Amino acid sequence: MTTPVLELKGVSKSFYGQKVLSDVTFSISPGEVFGYIGPNGAGKSTTLKILAGLITQYDGSVTIAGTDVKREPARAHALIGFMPQACGFQNWRTVESALDSLGDLSGVPADTRKRRIAELLERFKLADARTKKVKDLSGGMTQKLGLIQALLHEPRLLVLDEPLEGLDPPSRQLLKDVIRERSNAGTTVLFSSHILSDVENVADRVGILNQGQVESTGSIRDLTRMFDLPTEIDVDFSSPPGDTSFLAAAGKAVERKPGEWRVTLAGKPAPDAVDEVIHALVERTLAGGGRLRKIAVTEPGLDDLFAHYINRSEHGARHGQ
Ligand SMILES: Nc1ncnc2c1ncn2[C@@H]1O[C@H](COP(=O)(O)OP(=O)(O)O)[C@@H](O)[C@H]1O
Ligand SMILES: [Mg+2]
Repeated sequence: MTTPVLELKGVSKSFYGQKVLSDVTFSISPGEVFGYIGPNGAGKSTTLKILAGLITQYDGSVTIAGTDVKREPARAHALIGFMPQACGFQNWRTVESALDSLGDLSGVPADTRKRRIAELLERFKLADARTKKVKDLSGGMTQKLGLIQALLHEPRLLVLDEPLEGLDPPSRQLLKDVIRERSNAGTTVLFSSHILSDVENVADRVGILNQGQVESTGSIRDLTRMFDLPTEIDVDFSSPPGDTSFLAAAGKAVERKPGEWRVTLAGKPAPDAVDEVIHALVERTLAGGGRLRKIAVTEPGLDDLFAHYINRSEHGARHGQ
């Protein structure tokens, strides 16, 4: 088995006697993109600060490519590129000089710094802002600067705390593209978000953190299957057929308003099964002398799944790994 790039084992942390992380355990394989998802206050930033060596008092162990973060902090630090949730730069510096001084601190040689800073500013569409003062940047630009800073020394593991927060849609897409590019080039990426759909099409695997506990890990498809939310079909008749009992044969049928029904299919039906239900609804309506105005299928989206999941765990039910 290959050594995981990141491994957390039984990590627990309390602040002033209050437990913020309990027994957090997960690992990430080389080249993987891992989405660390949880509602505000779940403990995401605390976890990432532990990885980055900014919090040193905790129980359990964290290793980066086999290097224990507590025992060999400098060595572990060199392997990681970290973008904190709130990036602090020296405000009076220009974009270029702020990045240059941070690259210097990370031990990147001067000529490499020069080349890489120019490349990354270009990639993030910030080349025009390179002589601007950091204090004059917008929130989104500062965010991108944080990301460039994390990428400067070409780390083995890139750790980003809510990198999509506060970015406009084109910048979000750009960032997702960069994450994918880095991953294709062999970098392992861990990024956090409080929105599950943020990681769609980017993360290979997701870990869900809730109230300091990792409740489940898996691909988005695994999680979707596990959450198992029902599919709903809304059927509106402009004139109802003589007999509507066939609706109840498809699932739980409720007449929400006269002539407007909602049929809830149990569990997660296969796509073919949904087609068949629609087909039967149309046929039976016409056969019964009715007319349809609308049929709409609502399949639960990722954010519905997430909301449902968080609610369910707040009511006591917990899932296994
Ligand atoms: N330095 C600190 N001192 C006291 N409590 C803290 C500190 N940092 C975080 N917390 C608490 O730990 C919990 C988790 O915070 P955080 O890791 O920032 O969550 P997230 O990033 O998932 O929103 C919160 O209840 C927060 O108030
Ligand atoms: Mg946070």
